[in-house]
This record gives sequence, structure tokens and C-alpha cells, in this order.
Amino acid sequence: MAIQEEMSKRRTFAIISHPDAGKTTLTETLLLFGNLIRSAGTVKGKKSGKFATSDWMEIEKQRGISVTSSVMNFNYQGLQVNILDTPGHEDFSEDTYRTLTAVDSVVMIIDATKGIEAQTKKLFKVCRMRGIPIFTFINKLDREGREPLELLEEIEEVLNIETYPMNWPAGMGKRFLGIFDRHDKQFVQFSGNEQETFIPYDDLDRPAYESLVAQEEYQLAQDEVSLLDEAGDQFSLDAVLTGEQTPVFFGSALAPFGVKTFFDTFISMAPQPGARKTTEGVVQPGNPEFSGFIFKIQANMNPAHRDRVAFLRVCSGKFERGISVKLARTGKTINLSQSQQFVASSRGTVEEAYAGDIIGIYDPNVYRIGDTLLEGKELFEYNELPKFPPEQYKRVTVKNVMKSKQFKKGIEQLVQEGAIQLFTKYKTESYIIGAVGELQFDVFKYRMQNEYNSEVVLETIGERIPRWLKDDQVDSTLFDERNMLVEDREGHYVVLFKNDFSLRWFKDKHPEIELIDLYEVN
Ligand code: G4P
Repeated sequence: MAIQEEMSKRRTFAIISHPDAGKTTLTETLLLFGNLIRSAGTVKGKKSGKFATSDWMEIEKQRGISVTSSVMNFNYQGLQVNILDTPGHEDFSEDTYRTLTAVDSVVMIIDATKGIEAQTKKLFKVCRMRGIPIFTFINKLDREGREPLELLEEIEEVLNIETYPMNWPAGMGKRFLGIFDRHDKQFVQFSGNEQETFIPYDDLDRPAYESLVAQEEYQLAQDEVSLLDEAGDQFSLDAVLTGEQTPVFFGSALAPFGVKTFFDTFISMAPQPGARKTTEGVVQPGNPEFSGFIFKIQANMNPAHRDRVAFLRVCSGKFERGISVKLARTGKTINLSQSQQFVASSRGTVEEAYAGDIIGIYDPNVYRIGDTLLEGKELFEYNELPKFPPEQYKRVTVKNVMKSKQFKKGIEQLVQEGAIQLFTKYKTESYIIGAVGELQFDVFKYRMQNEYNSEVVLETIGERIPRWLKDDQVDSTLFDERNMLVEDREGHYVVLFKNDFSLRWFKDKHPEIELIDLYEVN
């Protein structure tokens, strides 16, 4: 019973956006609601990208690992809110994608002045593939942005998802008056810094609001709201929960304006942890036996600390400090006494955790990404984490040929761990590694040197588009450095196309050759 109750309080989500859309600012405002910080602007020194709030640094100091930015949690209206970070900028990597396998919903921030940007699109695609409910926050209404209708159209067309505006802005930038809150049937008036006045629709014809109602921006927005009410899509919570419709909120994370109404509505609709598929059928989050999977492993970049942290999403039962679990892959029993939960609170160690929670566990080099840990007699594994298409490629060689043995061992292990993806050039021993972001190469190079004593040289190949070939359609004479023929780890043939143009040109010229996109969404 306690397990059911605890897990039903969890709301675990990630915020996805393109850099600079306002993810940090929104997160700060949410942490203010959770009374976690006293004033916005203290979460990270913007330029350095490092957290500054001292309590959170304890584990970082002890372990020398930057973990605080990975998970933040706080209590809000009786619920336990877990926010997972999706690193962007130069930290964008496969981990960013994998984080999305550990959440139950997602908040997508779009900059009203820019619309949909590249990184948002990539992250959205993964959410869509997994059917994760997506809530949209259109940010920076205090600036002159693009027309709200145009933004909605763009979301519908580019992302191929139905939109339902939960609120509607009256004006923008200097002429921003507030929003029509369609959900709670009230006008939320914006009167400068942090000032929100809530006026029920029924009260708007009172003399006190005459000057507001008379304004052109108000009138225009009111007409648009009537139009949306009559001709727009109907709201459907079912469609939201299956990821087919996204509720859209307009506001400003910085002012802040519209953030509280957004968050309250989001929290009331966001799903609690659900059942998850495993190799032995579906497991319910309220199942009394503990289980979870590792979605990220963070190696220590500080040479004084060689340990690593595995991030585990709890999927069922109750985690207690010191419990014995089994690693499903090997059947080996492990005692999790060194467990630590990396949270935005002063206590670094978790005593208990339930479905929806994320815990960081000390990894003495035994875990792999995707591993399942569980209690109970029966072994099962959570469905394999999907592989994500590498976008950047580099040729890798060992600096000192005398150390080829360590080199091969290091690559083998790091690839197995999911740190990087490996290919070999057709009929050669030449290694090519692929990653989603530049950070992965840096970590790879560093770890090869520090953990395997093997200095490597990386030579940039650049961005490529991978397409798989059918085994009986391999003709090496058709490929060259531009469109490079390589083998993946399972021995399948892959062409790394230079760009979209090369890919299309090849398709035109060789329509008989089937090119398979392993990562195709639909
Ligand atoms: P990110 O984490 O998604 O990369 O974005 P971040 O929150 O750091 O915001 C990027 C920039 O956009 C910041 O300005 C921030 O102040 C600004 N911003 C965020 N939300 C809003 C908003 O609602 N309205 C307006 N007008 N600006 C917003 P910066 O100049 O890069 O940083 P700073 O020097 O102001 O801290």
C-alpha cells in the first residue's frame, strides 16, 4: 500500500529545448516554487554552466563528479517532482537522448522569437518515438516574437503533433497585456515584474477592467480565442497522455509570467510512473519487488577519483539503502549500500526511493548502460535502450603501436559500455567511432588514456548520415571517402553519406540498392 501511494506521488520529467530557449531560467523559476532556492539566477553561473548552490555541491566535492545538474527534486503540492536535465550545448550526447527513456513526460520549451530549432526537433523525435506526453511552453512573450498562430502551425507541421493552446496571449513584447487562460476561464493580467492579476472571465465586463478590455491587443486576442473555441481542436487528455496532442502554454520564464499557471496545470495532468515492458512481460510500478534500469553512466573526469556513477531509474517496488539486488545480465547479487541519490537537497544519501525516482549508484566498473537491477527470484530485463544515430564521426588510431593491445581492449570496453559507437572501414582494420555530440569524443579520449593507458589520435571525418545496406547488395566499388563503406559491430554494412545531397544523388543513381534508416521514427 505504501509503495502504491508513494509512487503515485512521483512526477518525473525532463525539459527539452534548443540552447538559449530558456531551460535554465524556467528550471530556476520552478525551483523557486519548490522553495529550493531563494532567488532565481543562483542555479548556475550562466557562462560557466556550473551549479553554484552550495548544498548541492557536497556529493560533487566528495566524488569529484558533476552530478548535481543531472537530477533535481522537490516537493510541490504534496507531489514529489523529479526534473532530469537534458544537457545541450557542447554537452549534447547520447546521454541526452537516453535521459528521455527515464522520464514519464516532457516539457518542451520554444523561444517565441525563433520557433522550432534543430535540437528541439531531435529531442522531440525521440519523445514521439517513445510516445511520451509532451507539454509545450512558448517562452519570451515579453519580447516581440512571432505570431502565436504561426507558432502553433509550425509545431503541427514540423513536428507532426496536434496542438491545444491552454492559454492565449494578448499582445507581445512591450504591448504584452497578459493571457486568456482557457483552462481555468480567467484572464491573467501582466503588470510588469512578477505581477499577475487573475480575473475570471465573468468579471471582465466590470468597469474596473474597461481600459484593459478596450485595448486593441485584448480585442484581437479575444477574437482569436473565440475562433479557437469554435474551430480549433478539442482538448483530449487521452491524446495528451499518448503523445498525440500537446497542450501549449504561452508565458515568460524570466518575468516570470504564466509559469505558475503552466506548472500547476502541467502537474495536474502529467502522468505518474506507468507500467514498463520487460523481457518477461509488463511490470507494474506498484509491484512490491524493486526493479530499475541504468540509463546513464558517468565516468569521473578527475584523476584523483577513478570511480563512476550509474544513474538508475526505479521502475517498481521500494529501494532501501543496503538492499541486495541482482544484476539481471549476469545473475550476480550486489549489495547497494553505497547508494546515493543525487538531488537538490542537503542530504546526499537516499534512504528509500520508489518508481519514478532516479538514484545514482557507485559503479565499481560492473554496470553497462541498459542494465536491469532487481529484487526477487525471477530475472527479467527492461527493454533494451534504443541506439541513437551517431551524427559526428572520427577516425581513431593509437599513438604508440606497441600499445595496440590496450587500445583494442579499451575500445572494446567503452563501446560495450555505450560510451561511443564503433565501425570499421570496409575490409580494413581502420576504426571509425561515431557519437551524437563532441563531448563523447573528449570523454572517450580521456578515458582511453587514463583507464587503459592508451593515447589515441582522433581525426575528424565530420557529420555523416548512416544508412544500412542489405548484405547481398554490397558493392564496394560504388563507395569512396565521400560516401564511406563501413561495417558495424554486428558485421552489417553501413554507408556513411557525406550529406543529404550525396544521399539523394546516390538514391537516384542506384534505385535498386535499398538504404535502410535504422533510426527511422515511423
Ligand atoms: P538555456 O538554459 O535554454 O540555454 O537558456 P537560459 O535559461 O540560459 O536563457 C537564455 C537567455 O534567454 C538568457 O539571456 C535568459 O535571461 C533569456 N531568457 C530566458 N527566458 C526569457 C524570457 O522569458 N524573456 C526574455 N526576454 N529572456 C529570457 P542571456 O542574456 O543569455 O543570459 P543572462 O546574461 O541574461 O543571464
